[in-house]
Amino acid sequence: HATLGLRPLSCYLRAPRSRGHPLAALPGPPRWPLMGSLPDVLWKGGLKRQHDTLAEYHRRFGKIFRMKLGSFDSVHIAAPCLLEALYRRESACPQRLEIKPWKAYRDFRDEGYGLLILEGKDWQRVRTAFQKKLMKPREVAKLDTMINEVLEDFMHRIDDVCNHNGQMEDVYSEFNKWSFESICLVLYRKRFGLLQKDVEEESLNFIKAVKTMMATFGMMMVTPVELHKGLNTKVWQAHTKAWDDIFKTAKHSIDCRLEKHSANPQEDFLCDIYSGGQLSKKELYAAIAELQIAGVETTANSLLWALYNISRNPHVQQKLLQEIQSVLAANEGPSAENLKNMPYLKACLKESMRLTPSVPFTTRTIDTEMVLGDYQLPKGTILMINSHALGCNEEYFHSWTQFKPERWFQKNLINPFSHVPFGIGKRMCIGRRIAELQLHLALCWLVRKYQIVATDDKPVETLHSGILIPSRELPIAFHRR
Ligand code: HEM
Repeated sequence: HATLGLRPLSCYLRAPRSRGHPLAALPGPPRWPLMGSLPDVLWKGGLKRQHDTLAEYHRRFGKIFRMKLGSFDSVHIAAPCLLEALYRRESACPQRLEIKPWKAYRDFRDEGYGLLILEGKDWQRVRTAFQKKLMKPREVAKLDTMINEVLEDFMHRIDDVCNHNGQMEDVYSEFNKWSFESICLVLYRKRFGLLQKDVEEESLNFIKAVKTMMATFGMMMVTPVELHKGLNTKVWQAHTKAWDDIFKTAKHSIDCRLEKHSANPQEDFLCDIYSGGQLSKKELYAAIAELQIAGVETTANSLLWALYNISRNPHVQQKLLQEIQSVLAANEGPSAENLKNMPYLKACLKESMRLTPSVPFTTRTIDTEMVLGDYQLPKGTILMINSHALGCNEEYFHSWTQFKPERWFQKNLINPFSHVPFGIGKRMCIGRRIAELQLHLALCWLVRKYQIVATDDKPVETLHSGILIPSRELPIAFHRR
């Protein structure tokens, strides 16, 4: 703590019975009757710019503030000391904000819940079953061959779809196809052929179903899902049909995989998890479908931002290329083992996820009263943990607007609680290691084969649409080296 210039933890974390200031004393943006701070948020650019508005509020009101959007009341935190305090007080089964539309579908069709929506002891049981395989570096490293197989195809695909200037018509959709294909191979051991010229009907329907499901649940997060279900609205119908399609394909693929390895379940990670007997078939289906949904756009988007950042910083790209070439022989494919010798590559991804994170915040619903940052928060308080605001705070990242992978090599400079792109604690992203492996390997393949060129130097802003996406088609081109 002394090296990081922090006050000792006891300053932030009070004994449960000592009382802090009441919730009502928390600072925050102006609050209007019924609307809360919604007019101010809309005035500042609307929900698409909410991450910028929230970062500005943190600059104005400090490490912790309270905000109401309509009737949605939340407390926002963005300071390493507060994140650490929260982490130390975490209960056995931390909770995120509920995704009610997803739960409504599962109850409607009698399907199971996966990690994104499970709570309490059930969440803990399923999490434990998956954690052993998904969060162990040694286990995840075994997936490198599969991830490379898809990357090799993706390199051909890039050559096919780029014009003579090395530009793609819809770079976002191409990268989503890559991450979809990649995570599906890991989870279902099945190729969906999305990187081929003629994609099969079944695969197209699957990718479309995921898109529709994602596009329809937001509406039912802000208006009561029971109402949509009761009135059988178009949104509810589309959402239900989309989940039906997702579950149909997921179940079929999982059943095939289980059958294939039924004699020797230990040889396959999914079968191994299931044969442990900790989760039901219904839970397995739901858990896998949710892993897939959580892992497609987040990964594709993170890779695109990394490419964008290195395209704008050619000296970084040059240094990265040198590192890759010094570790890999000319025709050697990268492996998980090789990555151990590529610290600069890892720093480039970290820096990109700081400056342009895919997931700007996560939430917790606190299950016990606690004092945080001198305020007394009642049980049930919704906390927004703002990793985006942390990444663009000068106090935690000197010259924060600059893309400087080198900053990650300066000893004791960065507090680990100031960089949480995958969340924190027991409920942290369970796909983190897989995502990092995919992204590290993808950067190796891409940077070695192409010079990633910035096609203009106008700013690209981030827009909030569940994740932080670029405000326009990314101005990058792929030039063969
Ligand atoms: C949860 C980010 C990739 C599966 C989360 C959370 C974040 C996150 C911020 C919330 C954590 C918290 O509340 O503390 C990301 C980013 C990714 C990524 C930035 C890519 C760069 C993946 C992948 C998978 C995945 C590839 C699946 C293989 C999940 C699941 C949860 C989760 C299942 C919920 C975990 C639980 O509640 O127990 N992710 N994720 N994510 N992520 Fe990821």
